Amino acid sequence: MKVERLTGVLGAELTDVNVTQLTDTQFQELRELACEYGVVFLPHQVMTVQQQVEFSHRFGPAAESPFIEPSPDHPEVIKVLKEASDGKAFNFGGAWHSDFSFLATPPSFTILYALDIPPYGGDTLWSCMAAAYEALSEQQKEQFATLHAVHTARDAYSPKMQPIHSGLSSMNIVCDDSANEAQVHPLITTHPETGKKILFYNRAYVRDLVGVSDDEKLRLMEWLHLHTTDAKFSVRHKWSVGDLAVWDNRSTQHYALNDYAGFRRELHRTTVAGSRPLP
Ligand code: SIN
Repeated sequence: MKVERLTGVLGAELTDVNVTQLTDTQFQELRELACEYGVVFLPHQVMTVQQQVEFSHRFGPAAESPFIEPSPDHPEVIKVLKEASDGKAFNFGGAWHSDFSFLATPPSFTILYALDIPPYGGDTLWSCMAAAYEALSEQQKEQFATLHAVHTARDAYSPKMQPIHSGLSSMNIVCDDSANEAQVHPLITTHPETGKKILFYNRAYVRDLVGVSDDEKLRLMEWLHLHTTDAKFSVRHKWSVGDLAVWDNRSTQHYALNDYAGFRRELHRTTVAGSRPLP
């Protein structure tokens, strides 16, 4: 497997590899690279939906996928699909987020395979929350270690949000009141595989901070969003058909751009069960 790093912070392209034929040693190397680089891209993969499910199982059991109806034949697969006729409708993943961070145990890895890509646009960005932690001052590291963040899907999937999701003709996203539930996670987590400290924050799902005065809260939340998504911690991927991306959902957040109105975009997504984020 050839490894080419893409930025000084995160992202690597892996070539000379067929993910459907990895030995256990090669798979372990790939898993470690995904943890080390945050996101890895494997171009020119040819895989059926079932092969993607099997590849995903090598990382661990499937994670739950609340609110999003899976592919009818493959309950562990989400078709991330925007039809040309959906125009400017809000796209799935179109805000900075870590997948399902509002769950008690958010997914560990996400795997996304490109089947149909617009001639331009539809890129995805990732940012590295380990680098965002490292860039904090010693004083911030100390202060943030005492804080917790309240993660909830209420501004993404509660019933009031149904109209924005109904604009996607081919994804069935079903909002309900369970989105109002919340999970409290430490603001600084320790990655369970690399041991690195992570600034575990994303604006899509964090709605409150515990341990900060009301006066300071909104300012700090805005600062955390701007800091964790700073261009200097990011990588941007322009998709081609056959690209497979594997990202570490515990140390990154991502954002799918919505700049391809009038074109079709389809990717298949699987997610791997994770553990409770710990300090
Ligand atoms: C997602 O947020 O999982 C979707 C990312 C993408 O469509 O690029």
